[in-house]
Amino acid sequence: MPATIVVGTQWGDEGKGKFTDLFAKEMSMVVRYQGGHNAGHTLVVDGESFALQLVPSGVLYDHIVPVIGNGVVVDPVVLLAEVDMLTAKGVDCSRLRVSGNAHLILPYHQEIDALTERYLGKNKLGTTKRGIGPSYADKSTRVGIRVQDLLDPKIFREKLEAVLEDKNQVLTRVYNRLPFDVDELAETYLGEVRDRMVPYVTDTVGLVHEALEAGQHVLFEGAQATFLDLDHGTYPFVTSSSPTAGGACTGAGVGPRHIDRVVGIAKAYITRVGAGPFVTELPEGDPVGDHLVDVGHEYGTNTGRRRRPGWFDAVMMRQAVRVNSLSEIALTKLDVLDQLDEVSVCVAYDVDGERHETLPYHQSDLHRATPICETLPGWKTDLTAMTEPGDLPVEARNYLDFLEDQVRCPISLVGVGPGREQFIHRTAS
Ligand code: GDP
Ligand code: IMO
Ligand code: MG
Repeated sequence: MPATIVVGTQWGDEGKGKFTDLFAKEMSMVVRYQGGHNAGHTLVVDGESFALQLVPSGVLYDHIVPVIGNGVVVDPVVLLAEVDMLTAKGVDCSRLRVSGNAHLILPYHQEIDALTERYLGKNKLGTTKRGIGPSYADKSTRVGIRVQDLLDPKIFREKLEAVLEDKNQVLTRVYNRLPFDVDELAETYLGEVRDRMVPYVTDTVGLVHEALEAGQHVLFEGAQATFLDLDHGTYPFVTSSSPTAGGACTGAGVGPRHIDRVVGIAKAYITRVGAGPFVTELPEGDPVGDHLVDVGHEYGTNTGRRRRPGWFDAVMMRQAVRVNSLSEIALTKLDVLDQLDEVSVCVAYDVDGERHETLPYHQSDLHRATPICETLPGWKTDLTAMTEPGDLPVEARNYLDFLEDQVRCPISLVGVGPGREQFIHRTAS
């Protein structure tokens, strides 16, 4: 009963969607286990681009059952719009299944997300304003409304009435906003939204286990990434879920003994969207940073925001190898470094004159840390058409060997372009 987890190892946008799509060829089921439509996963197949937010990246294959697990927060309006977008492009979404235990994102979550950000002022996190944090907060304080509540209009309405009592007090008295109307929301969500959602809703835990028991291969697709994890990320500059590999177990309802492969997706450099510490950041105006943003098209799939660029950080990666039990790494966007004369890698941090090879646990140290880098010669060769490890120039091979040595985990796959075929399967060294 083989099960694989794909997990982001940096601050997101590593190319998880591309590799999930690639792996899906050999799978039966792809399960999203956390996050919501804050994710933006871009797949490029035969020159056509698909930007997915909620629907699992395996959806493009006819043989895949795409599953939205219990750990995800679902905005049903966004989900249905995504299904429509895919259907218009000729993708069959009828096999999609959504956990009845997943929590809903409703309009008040989005409004509270935006208001919280506004009132945080210069301390704002730079969230995607999709209502992710407020929906997970309601889940934790046990006033969330779940996907299964759509199946029972009476329960849905009762829960909505109860929760709006509280939300409307906060919205009107604290934020001076208009209240939400129970009837209006109930009409929207218990009307067409409900009717269209019902066929997708099921017990996804049972579904996943039936697949595993039948010997089928299941892939758990992480959104966001290790350093956006609520526990393991750069708190408070994180998302409100558990993107790390452990999150796949709770977010899909499988125990750790089912997992036999964990693939960490890492970019050959790093990007971050939104606020928070970033030790290897190349500030706007830095020629190499601007080059990475231009060549790597580093603008959010979802929000269009410029992603902050920086050099590969082996200190973070060593931590990601540990907290996710990575069995291997898929390194993406190596081609984005093609034109550089030299390529740097951060191998340790300097914090007040002290060398750190592991991630300092104290956030203040992380804010003060400066990168200790090693610089390697660039390869100045176009890698985008290469398919075999032997095709790679010696400088690129040395760079990969150096990274492996630094992070102590094999790099089994290397991305050399956005297309489904643009990767090199590399024998682990
Ligand atoms: P995700 O959120 O981790 O799925 O990543 P995104 O889709 O947000 O961002 C990754 C971007 O890089 C997408 O536009 C991909 O098409 C693109 N991409 C993925 N792998 C490669 C690669 O190896 N080379 C290049 N040049 N682009 C890639
Ligand atoms: P994928 O799956 C990059 C960031 C936001 C913000 C923080 C909290 O495409 O890699 P949230 O809206 O989740 O409360 O925002 O997390 N963030 C991401 N950054 N890629 C993502 O997803 C992200 N999802 C959230 O920018 O800093
Ligand atoms: Mg993304």
